[in-house]
Amino acid sequence: MSTEKFDAVDIIGIKRDRGTLSPEQIDWTIDAYTRGVIAEEQMAALNMAILLNGMDRAEISRWTTAMINSGERMDFSTLRSPSGVAKPTADKHSTGGVGDKITLPLAPLVAVFGVAVPQLSGRGLGHTGGTLDKLESIPGWQASLSNEAMMDQLAGCGAVICAAGTGLAPADKKLYALRDVTGTVEAIPLIASSIMSKKIAEGTGTLVLDVKVGSGAFMKDEDDARELARTMVGLGTDAGVKTVALLTNMATPLGLTAGNAIEVQESVDVLAGGGPADVVDLTVKLAEEMLAGAGVHDADPAAALADGRAMDVWRLMISAQGGDPAAALPVARESETVYAQADGVLTELDALSVGIAAWRLGAGRARREDEVQAGAGVRLHAKPGDVVRRGQPLMTLLTDTPEKFGRALEALESAATISAEGSRSGQRLILDRIAQ
Ligand code: URA
Repeated sequence: MSTEKFDAVDIIGIKRDRGTLSPEQIDWTIDAYTRGVIAEEQMAALNMAILLNGMDRAEISRWTTAMINSGERMDFSTLRSPSGVAKPTADKHSTGGVGDKITLPLAPLVAVFGVAVPQLSGRGLGHTGGTLDKLESIPGWQASLSNEAMMDQLAGCGAVICAAGTGLAPADKKLYALRDVTGTVEAIPLIASSIMSKKIAEGTGTLVLDVKVGSGAFMKDEDDARELARTMVGLGTDAGVKTVALLTNMATPLGLTAGNAIEVQESVDVLAGGGPADVVDLTVKLAEEMLAGAGVHDADPAAALADGRAMDVWRLMISAQGGDPAAALPVARESETVYAQADGVLTELDALSVGIAAWRLGAGRARREDEVQAGAGVRLHAKPGDVVRRGQPLMTLLTDTPEKFGRALEALESAATISAEGSRSGQRLILDRIAQ
């Protein structure tokens, strides 16, 4: 006879019939699934019932806690600078977009002000890029660090961007892989608990969420993005993490590059006091939020970009992980240019199309085990709001494997909209701020 407390079929039935799971039922579900007692097809059915019928705040909160409890928790409370000063911690999480290299300049920028940034990051899958893939284009740079090395680096230069270990929220790894192949990624309770279980287990004191909205994001619709942001802010706050969310535009790529090495170069430009205005503005805004959450109110992050202090931390951060910050970055062997087809104002440059093109050129991977090309990607020569002339270069496609140009160009066929009467106002970058 089974010694299990509950039966998976009963749990599925409760959510199918729009009922509410008790805390004990949720704890058992996550634990039993991790132990293999709940079969994959049963969990798939439960995920679909959650996607269709939702969960209330108490259920989402308990589901998140159960996922955190499936693994280890990191603790930065003993973190001190070399002179013995306690360091607060702050982290940023983006729900993913095209050209989103913000973590690269942001982590060293925040560390300038004595706040430690433990930025556990992932690799790209599909059209959104991965922070680790971008950084791996720097010769010698290593994504994997032991917990001890991470603590030493946080105590020293104050910023770490590295791969999340397998010990954080292992239940989420299994669950996410299942959601990926069963059409259940898009459930707000499941996305919120997946992201927040990892961030809370990571042990940061402050968390700033960059929830992307638009064609290149998970959430295409602003109301859905707002609901996801509110849910995650609620979960973080309940867990004692100071959490705020910005809703930001992902209708068009961030900056002028989507790829790996070309995004690192653009980040270095920002750290050198230049770079595209949208990347600089979002980096500074997110830094202000992280610093305010960590209790630093008199900081001027824009000045620390302009005067080279953030660049100094970047160099230390890259060298500490074996990278050579002065080394030349890989360059793609082949290029192809896309030209404007008319005179007028570029009113749209679709983020999803550019993301798919960069991915097809080799900047991203279709399967987890695929290799990415460091030099591949798309370089933009105009942004929405710019006046363009027929025949002017709009984008340069970059790859080592020219047979990839055809499919990448297909993705870009209707990416650009040029209008004779278009407005030159461009698009708003920050759409909303959600706090509790
Ligand atoms: N990122 C995650 O970590 N989990 C999700 O469910 C979606 C995006």
